[in-house]
Amino acid sequence: MKGLILAGGAGTRLRPITYTSAKQLVPVANTPILFYGLQSMVDAGITDIGIIVGDTAAEVMTAVGDGARWGARVTYIPQDAPLGLAHCVLIAREFLGADDFVMYLGDNLLEQDLNTFVAAFTGQSERPAAQILLKAVPDPQRFGVAELDASGHVVRLVEKPAEPPSDLALVGVYLFDPTIHEAVRAIEPSARGELEITDAIQWLVENGRRVQSQLLTGWWIDTGKLTPLLEANRLLLERISPRLEGTIDDASSIDGRVVLERGARVVRSQIRGPVVIGAGSAIVDSYIGPHTAVGNNCTIEHSEIEHSVLLEGVRVSGVPRLQDSLLGREAVVTRTHAKPSALRLMVGDHSQIDVE
Ligand code: DAU
Repeated sequence: MKGLILAGGAGTRLRPITYTSAKQLVPVANTPILFYGLQSMVDAGITDIGIIVGDTAAEVMTAVGDGARWGARVTYIPQDAPLGLAHCVLIAREFLGADDFVMYLGDNLLEQDLNTFVAAFTGQSERPAAQILLKAVPDPQRFGVAELDASGHVVRLVEKPAEPPSDLALVGVYLFDPTIHEAVRAIEPSARGELEITDAIQWLVENGRRVQSQLLTGWWIDTGKLTPLLEANRLLLERISPRLEGTIDDASSIDGRVVLERGARVVRSQIRGPVVIGAGSAIVDSYIGPHTAVGNNCTIEHSEIEHSVLLEGVRVSGVPRLQDSLLGREAVVTRTHAKPSALRLMVGDHSQIDVE
């Protein structure tokens, strides 16, 4: 079995961060989102992995390399434009050959590992053409939605319907046998101009192929927007194993699950986990509260931060309270007492700022 990870596409809902960085590489709990999917595939025994890359190809390739770090062999498949999830299958034809494969959307995060999902497929003497994962959600119109009959068989799939036939969203992990190649060639682009994988699976249903569904246990997050990204960060920080490799002075205190990477310094500060603080960062005269991930080489002084994600090289100084925030690389947030009292901002396109 092979793996296909989708790491192309545009990250419009996480601008301005995604002007300069791939949305799949935004870190949660200080690890790029994409790495969790990769690890989960390898844990399920899938090591021959294709990655679809788009405009951010160079960055993804630098971050992942040849996959040896995970014990995987990675093949990059460039996509000229984000023409849809089924288009990704179309262009991966040569890599996939006649193998069954797991397709994983690079911005999705799952609590459950892939083992049970893969085992349910490979363990059958008569395999279905596709196996999908479903999760009940409060806002199904944002996703692909499945309609099941009374015995739980998939009867219809629709992409982002205005009037959802159920609350069962399609999770971004799919298992296919080679019949899917016929399906992706047969469908037409949707109203949003994309070749939808949902339509390709619907084609399988209409053509009498068996599509099996499984209900996902545990949480699932499509991290493409700020609120779900912070939620993913919170959930993954809950699972970290505490490790203190940096230095902590006598005037500081550390409570709960905290990772302090090598070369990080905590001076006259309080850290209340779950928190991760990256290598080379300095926390001085500050409070870092639960569910905060501070990247490498950040400086936080005279500030309080909670429930936030700070990328590499951020500086926060004199800010009495920062929470529910995502700060991009090398961002600087300071408080000065210069007159006149005012907010002084240099803000990138599509940034969001809430002032009290
Ligand atoms: O997250 C689950 C949902 O993902 C499903 O419920 C939907 O049925 C499915 O269509 C998909 O919807 P999204 O609109 O959220 O997909 P998005 O455009 O965010 O793309 C998902 C991933 O695939 C993302 O990592 C970018 C990548 N991608 C996307 C497109 C359209 C590509 O690599 N190439 C593409 O052409």
